[in-house]
Amino acid sequence: MSPKAIYFFTLLFLACSCQPTDSVHQKTAPVNLIPQAQQIDFSEGYFQIDAATIILSSPSFQAEANYLKKLLATSSTFEIKTNTEQATKNFIQLKEDPNLPSKEAYRLNIQPTHIEISAATANGAMHAVQSLRQLLPASFHQQEKRATWQIPCLDINDHPRFQHRGMLLDVCRHFFDKQVIFKYIDLLAYYKMNVLHFHLTEDQGWRIEIEKYPKLNTIAAWRTEADGSRYGGFYTKADLKEMVAYAKERHITIIPEIELPGHAQAALAAYPAFSCAGETAKIEVVNDWGVFKEIYCAGNDDTFQFLEDVLTEVMEIFPSEYIHIGGDEAPKFRWENCKKCQRRIKAEGLHDTHELQNYFITRIEKFLNANGRKLIGWDEILEGGLAENATVQSWRGMQGGINAANAGHQAIMSPTSHCYLDYSLDMIDLKKIYNFDPIPSDLDTAKHKFIIGGECNMWTEHVPDEATLDARINPRMQALAEVLWTYPQERNFQDFYQRIQTHYPALKAFKVAYGLEAVPAKINSKIENGQLTVFAESNLADLTLSAKWANEKEFQAVQAFPLQTSGEYQVQAKKGTERYGEVISQQFEAHLALAKTVEYQTDYNDWYPANGKQALVDGKIASLNFRDRNWQGFYGNDAIQIVDLGKIEKINSVAINFYQYNNAWIFLPQRLYVQVSKDGKKWQDYGIVLPNARAQQRGKFIEQLKVERPMPEIQFIKVEIENVGKVPAWHEAAGSDAWIFMDEIIVK
Ligand code: ACM
Ligand code: ZN
Repeated sequence: MSPKAIYFFTLLFLACSCQPTDSVHQKTAPVNLIPQAQQIDFSEGYFQIDAATIILSSPSFQAEANYLKKLLATSSTFEIKTNTEQATKNFIQLKEDPNLPSKEAYRLNIQPTHIEISAATANGAMHAVQSLRQLLPASFHQQEKRATWQIPCLDINDHPRFQHRGMLLDVCRHFFDKQVIFKYIDLLAYYKMNVLHFHLTEDQGWRIEIEKYPKLNTIAAWRTEADGSRYGGFYTKADLKEMVAYAKERHITIIPEIELPGHAQAALAAYPAFSCAGETAKIEVVNDWGVFKEIYCAGNDDTFQFLEDVLTEVMEIFPSEYIHIGGDEAPKFRWENCKKCQRRIKAEGLHDTHELQNYFITRIEKFLNANGRKLIGWDEILEGGLAENATVQSWRGMQGGINAANAGHQAIMSPTSHCYLDYSLDMIDLKKIYNFDPIPSDLDTAKHKFIIGGECNMWTEHVPDEATLDARINPRMQALAEVLWTYPQERNFQDFYQRIQTHYPALKAFKVAYGLEAVPAKINSKIENGQLTVFAESNLADLTLSAKWANEKEFQAVQAFPLQTSGEYQVQAKKGTERYGEVISQQFEAHLALAKTVEYQTDYNDWYPANGKQALVDGKIASLNFRDRNWQGFYGNDAIQIVDLGKIEKINSVAINFYQYNNAWIFLPQRLYVQVSKDGKKWQDYGIVLPNARAQQRGKFIEQLKVERPMPEIQFIKVEIENVGKVPAWHEAAGSDAWIFMDEIIVK
């Protein structure tokens, strides 16, 4: 390692050893609660749990006392006794205190002689038990059998900021064994979340047993994958009741989601009679990702009978006050072209299919309300009027939640910007989700009470197994748990970051294959004084980075260097002595236009700016990940730019990479037209290229369009890239604006 590199690493090390302190953490014992408690007072000494300890409980907290007893038994050489009598020392007492500020509030008072848990309700008592559990060391969670366990003396007074603290789990795109569901119910309880939002029906699979409609389980639960294999499964009623009981013991509510009117293609594959095309429609369970046009027919009363029958069985299994009915992403194409749906619009005096969606949701809501339940739906249920008592879950940003609150409806916040756990870490890292605030800054204070909480959403299109699931959820779910429980004045990312480190041994013990906190590093380039330099930056203070350029063997220090040849830059991060994540690499291309100026004659779109006005001459070659921040996007318009090489050059070729992923409306251009000029005034044709791949070609791929033609004296190059304009007629999103994605104008 060069002296410079040592200096650099030393700097990094210094940077991470000076964490800010926080008043809550003036502590005499290592206490690392997640979510952070509202108030902790520390005192000297320990309470020791041993064979003589007894648990005393008021009758209303008997279940929580038993839960604690079972928990202690997992890691003890002795059996703890419970009773309701008095004791003078060595006891853990759970008692009711109606004076606490809310039904979830608790006090956990640990003294050398005894532990006292007070709560207004059993729910609060469970929170105290979970805090107690977090005060035990990792060896406890590893179920090491010991004769004694010590817990530091302190006094916690705690209660949650929000009443609804949830995680959505999609078991449709991929199906998970019921043991995985138990694991997550446990984990939610450990982090004082209180809702498992169970996404049970989808285009790609129906996962709940319904006795009256057996084809939901023989047909709708199974799909044929592109390779011909069968994929699927469902939970039986007995499975689901077991989950409900397990969740109830831990004060977790399972809110089932039964999607309607859209995301219903699996159900319609089993019962096509409830689709707009009716009985004879050929509908299959979907084996691809996206939004699909087969939705329940709103003009057919039998559809509503079917849904009411299904919901009746759902309500028998799930006692939750709320039932989620989806309501998102329901394309109106079938309804526009269905006689029955159009008849319904007339008969009900509706204006359009948006109002028909409102009719649909309202009719279902009346049914749920008549059965003593309340409806939650995604923010689309605001379109065409809102059902009377509905709670809105805002996902397309915060606006749905704001509109709901302003209309006096409850809202749950789970915007894609902060709460989507299927998004990669380069979109939503630990810090980003931690900095989420469910209360929008522009919402009137009087309306804050309508924001009942939030959720993190674990969609599983790209989550085929438990290990991937674990890595996506953890530790981001823990960050959201703290957002939803702890008041902003007690929250601090650096402090949370330190605390989550101490939770990893427990997570390992719980068999959670937790993931990274952030993409370890960014590799970037910048133009300064006409020179392009390449550099890497760590995204976390406690990482060290080592780097490798092209085929050079030596690992170099991570510092900016001028790009002179094409090659790959690789970075490996380490936390302590452990490798942290995979090697990150970035391909760079050296060429004549590098760091030169680009004049934009049409605008790129702000959602995909890449490196802004330097993006097309920054040397960075984009990857198959269209969100890698190297692709510059043009939405609905052509891309036209002029590159000024700064001086007369001999050129041999002009090449541009384009991306296609038609599921996401990104298409290769119709053509690339290149002109060249010596003075920027008089232009001459250089060449035209058309893409090889067709617009219909599925999947994600890159195609380079290249004109090769030696020309001795050129300074200006104009590229005109023709957008397909609108998504073509054969596509499910026909008529929407199409994207062009390009990364670099490579001039050689
Ligand atoms: C959603 O992500 N479609 C609610
Ligand atoms: Zn219809």
